[in-house]
Amino acid sequence: MSYAVAEIAFQKSISPDCQTRYGIDQVLTVCPESHDLLDVHYDWDRVPVPSSLKEFEKRWMTRHNPLDYSGVWRFRELLPFAPDDQIVTIGEGQTYLQKCDPVAKYVGMKPGQLFLQYEGLNPSGSFKDNGMTAASTHARMVGAKMTACASTGNTSASLAIYAGVSGHFRCVVFVGSGKISYGKLSQALDYGAVTIQIRGDFDDALQQVRAVCEQQNIYLCNSVNPFRLEGQKSIMYRVLEGLGWEVPDWIVVPGGNLGNSSAFGKAFLELKQLGLIDRIPRLAVINASGANTLYELYEHQGLRWNNGRPQKELVDSFYRDMDARNHRADTLASAIEINRPVNLKKCLRALDACNGVVREVTDEEILDAKAQVGAGGFGCEPASGASVAGAKMLRQQGIIAPSDRVVCILTGHQLKDPTATVGYHSDAAAEEAQKLAKRGIVTRPYQNGPIVVDNDLAQILEVIGRVG
Ligand code: F0G
Repeated sequence: MSYAVAEIAFQKSISPDCQTRYGIDQVLTVCPESHDLLDVHYDWDRVPVPSSLKEFEKRWMTRHNPLDYSGVWRFRELLPFAPDDQIVTIGEGQTYLQKCDPVAKYVGMKPGQLFLQYEGLNPSGSFKDNGMTAASTHARMVGAKMTACASTGNTSASLAIYAGVSGHFRCVVFVGSGKISYGKLSQALDYGAVTIQIRGDFDDALQQVRAVCEQQNIYLCNSVNPFRLEGQKSIMYRVLEGLGWEVPDWIVVPGGNLGNSSAFGKAFLELKQLGLIDRIPRLAVINASGANTLYELYEHQGLRWNNGRPQKELVDSFYRDMDARNHRADTLASAIEINRPVNLKKCLRALDACNGVVREVTDEEILDAKAQVGAGGFGCEPASGASVAGAKMLRQQGIIAPSDRVVCILTGHQLKDPTATVGYHSDAAAEEAQKLAKRGIVTRPYQNGPIVVDNDLAQILEVIGRVG
């Protein structure tokens, strides 16, 4: 880019009551004055944003340039905080919008109306790389030598890749005990991250890593880092690109720490402000019913963005009650097993901008939806199945119409959590099957277990005859 990014980008609290600006050279995860989350802002008048989104597509022709190849930096004028020569990219965001009629049928949509944005195809196997390329770039810009995150597994896998590849900084990742899937844990270990497994859950890990980063001047890469969300906006740019730059009716996304939903809302608000889209799609954020803070607060208690002043007391008393009952999130969709989503407030802004809804779906609904995504030829990890399960629920409730155009975000690859998949499909994996049974999941309508046979040709042929 030919202009000085420091002159056009700055950070500012999301609170309308705080107007203090902070430079992009500052490393902050909350506004020092308002103690609220920060946004990255741009002086759009000085950014050479193309007059039409179609211009970005032309970069497919120059994909020998790593910045044009990246599915994030291809859109760099829409996240203009980094000089080109500082960008850390590993070709993230080569992800596609896929029409999927078998899943459309499952959800109750007309053929051709349901799309899956398949973010599992990223280098570390989840959508996190969209944000981590941006956070890594900022870490490099500010000269960070050490980075850190807390994670349910995908953020740590992603940061571990970027730390390994970039050579500019190292990383330490904090994970909780018990729930992290082996697929994800193995990535952090294999990519050489210093991995600290604390006796506690994700919320505990996040609290600790925030304290560690503050005391040790370590660069924090969780989604409280506003630069990470800048990268995650690109998921929506690619969705629009996949639809020929037409805006869909619905975006359906699983909700955990609420970074994605927050980033999507910001993306659409900015595109509208820039005149690059004429309307904003509706947003559905889907919680697992075992980790349903947003659902409870938004749908039952009426928490709203309220022009930047959400009812703080509602949130405080919800958390007080949660602690008093010693209630902790519990779901098989371990990626979204989160009690206190850090981006709650930004997500409220997104829901406000996108006329959003929030739903909760059970583990059973999640696993059934996941099996359908798999049978449709794509595959995803359990948390991602929540988006399809949520779309089905909204369709049944008549909130999504059969002729609407719906995009479900598949946030993580199927191979992230093979234990969950095998447990669902197979009685042979007795331990996993028992775990499901303990959660009341006894009928698995889309079960597709292995057929066990003797090492005997006649028997094999007999079985083939039966299924064929
Ligand atoms: N889906 C997957 C596969 C995830 O890994 C996560 C979050 C989410 C959905 C929720 O996204 O936080 O933006 O609402 N995983 C984080 C992690 C918490 O540590 O990997 P969100």
